[in-house]
Amino acid sequence: MINVHLTGTGCCLPEHVLTNHDLESIVDTSDEWIRRRTGICERRIARDIENETTARLGARAALKALAMAGVQPKEIDTIVVGTVTADRQFPSAACMIQKELQITDAAAYDVSAGCSGFIFALETASNAIRVNGVRNVLVIGVERLSSILNWQDRNTCVLLGDGAGAILLQAESAPGGVLTTNIRSDGGRWDLLYAEYGPSSEPPIANMAPAKPFFLKMEGNRLFKHAVNCLSKIAIMALEKSGLTLDDISIVIPHQANMRIIRAVADKLQIDMQRFYVNLEKYGNTSSASIPIALDEANRNGLIQPGDNVLLISFGAGLTWGSALIKWTCQQDK
Ligand code: ACO
Repeated sequence: MINVHLTGTGCCLPEHVLTNHDLESIVDTSDEWIRRRTGICERRIARDIENETTARLGARAALKALAMAGVQPKEIDTIVVGTVTADRQFPSAACMIQKELQITDAAAYDVSAGCSGFIFALETASNAIRVNGVRNVLVIGVERLSSILNWQDRNTCVLLGDGAGAILLQAESAPGGVLTTNIRSDGGRWDLLYAEYGPSSEPPIANMAPAKPFFLKMEGNRLFKHAVNCLSKIAIMALEKSGLTLDDISIVIPHQANMRIIRAVADKLQIDMQRFYVNLEKYGNTSSASIPIALDEANRNGLIQPGDNVLLISFGAGLTWGSALIKWTCQQDK
């Protein structure tokens, strides 16, 4: 029996801190509005175009996960990256991260599922281990959303931030590890959250006009309701599939979009907020990076112990939503 064990976590945040007060001089907003409506106080913005590329942030997070597990980059046979902000339209962020890690012989590919990218990547990676005999897989969530934000749109630019998180998954025969993953999409509602322009959204360069900016557009209010419903439903699905109950869950790590969404999910599921790990006040919504960043923080802060059941739940563009339930076996002092 092959089980999928999580053996290392890591994250990497850009240096620059952009506070709510800083945003007051960019758009018509206030620290008070942002805190009250979202819970966010500050976020990190990748300003160093050399060292804080998507590939470099992702690679640094991956190296920390590898160091925790005591695994060398050359032992990796697959890299799966959840992102919508690869440094280039192609090649994939995963291939560019592979180069940064100097891994020459491995499969590397991206998964595009908005803020659910990390959970979708985790499902793909787990299946690669269970079905295809792959042994060591890096799963990374990384975004540089600041590069596709319209900094004149207060509805979106105050919400998002940049960063990367990574985990290492390894094939092991011991029980535990990833118990279940669940992913869902509703493409019929893609227009609630999308990138305004893409290669096929406009006629070809007939008039040789300069490329239009690639802005993120969002109907936050309508997304809010879907987020609460979908996150709650997919959490229940994870419990049903793994034969556990809410009482068995030690910690819930939700996508970090909005404190009010997380509270509403806690209410709906009737789980005490104390069991939710939240760090969005420091980083805002980092899309597919938010869950692995929070997971790494909680792990390094000693909030997750071997034997704990860890529930991850995500929601994002697509629409997409997903969950994973992990019986924790990661030893930090390996
Ligand atoms: N500062 C001040 N006022 C603002 C700001 C701002 N930054 N942004 C909006 N407002 C105003 C609006 O213009 C509106 O004014 P009006 O009443 O005069 O029209 C008022 O505040 C209320 O706006 P709402 O959109 O109704 O505010 P809401 O309470 O819904 O909060 C928010 C907006 C934070 C976006 C919330 O709806 C939300 O978090 N939605 C979910 C986001 C999400 O989950 N996204 C999916 C994942 S993200 C991803 O995949 C990248």
